[in-house]
Amino acid sequence: MNIGIIGAGNMGTGMGKFWAQNGHKLMLSYSRSPDKLKAAAESIGSGTLVGTPAEAVQFADVVVLSVAWTAVEDALQQAGSLDGKILFSCVNALLPNMGGLAVGTTTSAAEEIAKLAPGARIVEAMPLFAEVLHSSSRLFGEQKPTVFYCGDDEDAKAIVAQLLQETEVDAIDAGPLKSARYVEPAGFLLVQLAYAQNMGQVALKLLQR
Ligand SMILES: NC(=O)c1ccc[n+]([C@@H]2O[C@H](COP(=O)([O-])OP(=O)(O)OC[C@H]3O[C@@H](n4cnc5c(N)ncnc54)[C@H](OP(=O)(O)O)[C@@H]3O)[C@@H](O)[C@H]2O)c1
Repeated sequence: MNIGIIGAGNMGTGMGKFWAQNGHKLMLSYSRSPDKLKAAAESIGSGTLVGTPAEAVQFADVVVLSVAWTAVEDALQQAGSLDGKILFSCVNALLPNMGGLAVGTTTSAAEEIAKLAPGARIVEAMPLFAEVLHSSSRLFGEQKPTVFYCGDDEDAKAIVAQLLQETEVDAIDAGPLKSARYVEPAGFLLVQLAYAQNMGQVALKLLQR
């Protein structure tokens, strides 16, 4: 599958390396520094391409949006039409000082992104922390972490679920896109635990009976 990544930072490269290892073709885009973008592609290897956001969209079966909340509008403008494309967003609406979320409970980053990208088949997930993606193992003891995803297009969700599983997690369907209102704050809870509570690398694990 061709994966076009808009935002080749911690998350774009962290997930991208698993996808490249699994045989997908990648194009990285959206950096203020062409050299940084090229270095990010080289760090992934496997013939990873670089391009503009619009070229990444053209290239992609799945477009990944992995930019800061404050850059979403600009990134999507540069991407152009996403009509009919699967758009996997891992964007959380973190305030620039990481002191909270800019939107929540009555809407979500994912729902706001859906408004900015009409026609896109949007799926959201809060993947593992970048530190965990870039470390030598995804396991916590012997436990595989859980990553929740949500969206309104079942076929798009199945494809994103497979891509998430390839990052060595249990991907759990949290329902419609509206569930992003709960998935995103859960992601922020982890930020709070990791950084304000100094708990280091943390992740979620769903228990069910
Ligand atoms: N990091 C995590 O553990 C984690 C976990 C779950 C969800 N998320 C979410 O994933 C998203 C991406 O996070 P990240 O940690 O990968 O961020 P990041 O490392 O800062 O990556 C964002 C990329 O966007 C690019 N960019 C281009 N123009 C920009 C602009 N005008 N302003 C800001 N960035 C610009 C940056 O490229 P240049 O710097 O080269 O210009 C950078 O490579 C965020 O919404 C975050 O909330 C992150």
